[in-house]
Amino acid sequence: MAFPLPSTKIIFIILTIIICFTSSTFSQQPYIREDNTDCDSRPKESSALGFFCNGLNTSCQAYLTFRSRPPYNTVVAISDLLAADPSEISEINSVSKNSTFEANNLVFVPVNCSCSGEFYQTNASYIAKADDNYFDLANNTFQGLTTCQALANQTGNPPILEIETGQTIRVPLRCACPTKNQTDVGVNYLMSYLTDYDDDDYKISVEFGVDNQLLLKANRLSDLDNTIYPDTTILVPLKTPPSNSQSIEPLPSPLLPPTSSPPSSSSNTSSKKNTWLYALFGSIGGLFLLVLGTVIFFTVFRRSKKKSDSVLVSETSNAGGKIQKETREFLDSISDATQSLKLYGFEELMRATDGFSSACLIEGSVYRGVVDGILAAIKRVDGDVSKEINLQQKINHFNLISLSGVCLNKDHWYLVYEYASNGPLSDWIFSDGKFLNWTQRIQIAFDVATGLNYLHSFTNPSHVHKDIKSSNILLDSDFRAKITNFGLARATQAQEGQFSLTNHIVGTIGYLAPEYLQNGIVSTKLDVYAFGVLLMEMLTGKEVSVLHEENRNSIPDALSAVLDGEGQEGLRQFMDPAMQGKYPAEFATFVVRIIDSCLKKNPETRPPMDEIAQFLSRILSNSLTWELSNNIAG
Ligand SMILES: *[C@@H]1O[C@H](CO)[C@@H](O)[C@H](O)[C@H]1NC(C)=O
Ligand SMILES: *[C@@H]1O[C@H](CO)[C@@H](O)[C@H](O)[C@H]1NC(C)=O
Ligand SMILES: *[C@@H]1O[C@H](CO)[C@@H](O)[C@H](O)[C@H]1NC(C)=O
Ligand SMILES: *[C@@H]1O[C@H](CO)[C@@H](O)[C@H](O)[C@H]1NC(C)=O
Ligand SMILES: *[C@@H]1O[C@H](CO)[C@@H](O)[C@H](O)[C@H]1NC(C)=O
Ligand SMILES: *[C@@H]1O[C@H](CO)[C@@H](O)[C@H](O)[C@H]1NC(C)=O
Ligand SMILES: *[C@@H]1O[C@H](CO)[C@@H](O)[C@H](O)[C@H]1NC(C)=O
Repeated sequence: MAFPLPSTKIIFIILTIIICFTSSTFSQQPYIREDNTDCDSRPKESSALGFFCNGLNTSCQAYLTFRSRPPYNTVVAISDLLAADPSEISEINSVSKNSTFEANNLVFVPVNCSCSGEFYQTNASYIAKADDNYFDLANNTFQGLTTCQALANQTGNPPILEIETGQTIRVPLRCACPTKNQTDVGVNYLMSYLTDYDDDDYKISVEFGVDNQLLLKANRLSDLDNTIYPDTTILVPLKTPPSNSQSIEPLPSPLLPPTSSPPSSSSNTSSKKNTWLYALFGSIGGLFLLVLGTVIFFTVFRRSKKKSDSVLVSETSNAGGKIQKETREFLDSISDATQSLKLYGFEELMRATDGFSSACLIEGSVYRGVVDGILAAIKRVDGDVSKEINLQQKINHFNLISLSGVCLNKDHWYLVYEYASNGPLSDWIFSDGKFLNWTQRIQIAFDVATGLNYLHSFTNPSHVHKDIKSSNILLDSDFRAKITNFGLARATQAQEGQFSLTNHIVGTIGYLAPEYLQNGIVSTKLDVYAFGVLLMEMLTGKEVSVLHEENRNSIPDALSAVLDGEGQEGLRQFMDPAMQGKYPAEFATFVVRIIDSCLKKNPETRPPMDEIAQFLSRILSNSLTWELSNNIAG
């Protein structure tokens, strides 16, 4: 047999790998850090003079941000200051041309950006007032959209030189055009975003719905080097022009016909980024299709031969003999498909649980028992377990409870799971006499996020748990978390279309995302929402029903009390009193921000689980350091 394709395929795979690798290592402009405050030096490697002309085009549409502050708080004043078009400003900010912005409102300013020598810039001009100096002009009037170094470079003056009153100064504003590397992943615009004192890369990427890694790379930052300073410009890579409705996009219409394709691919960049992966998997898939076909052929052949034996075994061992044919085939497929899942005899489980005595009852229909010399949890299930078993066979992760075996007796299924000795998380956060300290809580949150990320991104097809809540998180002897109860879990539609619709709403009240309750939309963002609720319970020590009762208006109000207004006092009221203030306030605020982003009404603006896991991992390592230095033990 001849294989005409493999050689070209292999070349394609190699090319794909090379392109994947390189496109993931690009970086665009060096972040300015604190260089803007050092007016005397002109660091060569820094973007203090401007962003370098390294883009695909020498000129492009770009965006600046500006915070409205009197006297620059109207469309007219801002467009004058930044030499922008007032009608463009009023349009993109959805305000009329004669309107005045509220103080500190973030205003988007469209500009034409072009290369001037080595640097991109857009030119504004400014008439100097008495006592103006380069630094104050750059930092206060222009809020960081230019630098003292760049101003001095335009006039040829050393930056310390006094500016004459009435003098016209040409002001180069910092803008940039996307590089080839960026347009390749779908980025069309770069926005020079002015950082605030409480900004970090996570907050910014969530705010503008931008992939966090893409944001970091655009500024030559990384997970290890991601400090952001206030009053600087950071480049936000955008697929579409910015808009102030970014975070309050309307929900998909409930009239959406069930067959229509889902709202097209979510946050700006991730899907484009995945294109290469699909290509890669596609080509590998093609290569192995033949091999796979052969394997399947032999498996089926083998299975059909083997079935006659196992039917005999089953019939003799089952007194009732009432097992349906499909069930038996299913049982066969379990024992065939994997060596790791054991078929237990009912007597064995009877012995293990003292005849399912109440002394061994954990709760509901779950019993504790020693099976094969190991403590296990045995759950009796009436009804269809095939989905759960099929999923459990696919997963193998420390943070997902594992199924070791099954048993079928008289139409009842018994599932034998790994045992988690400290029981459900709900016992630990809501009951008196039990207590988890800050680091334990963060470790658990990180564990759950990691488990969910595995479920969302590393099972094929991707799965949604659909019932994340504190009683479905179990703690082992080291207080490491394991997600359990995959009874409601289901596959999301494969690949791009992450959404599917259902008429059958299941789950637990309080944890259900609005788009699911209202429109039956199922996506991994459902778990992200529930995770936000869980995280909130863990921090406040209050059950979701209590949280809803306390905040008659809405839970987001309770969050914004911490994030926007009341600072330390707001945080103190939010946090579980049992912790007695023993938590690092800075990181706690960070977690509140994660909760806030998980509970966003629009599922597309909720961050993906991998990002959440990544941030919790950072908070965890910082918390461990904090714990050591504060001598707070568990
Ligand atoms: C784009 O990516 C290539 C390959 O990694 C890199 O050599 C190049 O410097 C990048 N371009 C820019 C402008 O960052
Ligand atoms: C670059 O220029 C080309 C041709 O003028 C234009 O089609 C394209 O949209 C530009 N790209 C960007 C990112 O501005
Ligand atoms: C930018 O360029 C476009 C066309 O090239 C022009 O219509 C627009 O007025 C320019 N904007 C500014 C602020 O100069
Ligand atoms: C703004 O302009 C519109 C017409 O363009 C006018 O109707 C409106 O009264 C003006 N508002 C203010 C506050 O001047
Ligand atoms: C901005 O001013 C510089 C001179 O400092 C000039 O070279 C450049 O062409 C101007 N850019 C635009 C877009 O007018
Ligand atoms: C820069 O300006 C901001 C306000 O825009 C101000 O809060 C900050 O103190 C200024 N930085 C310096 C170093 O003066
Ligand atoms: C402005 O910066 C460029 C690039 O570093 C340099 O070549 C030029 O001499 C500077 N101009 C002035 C007037 O300082």
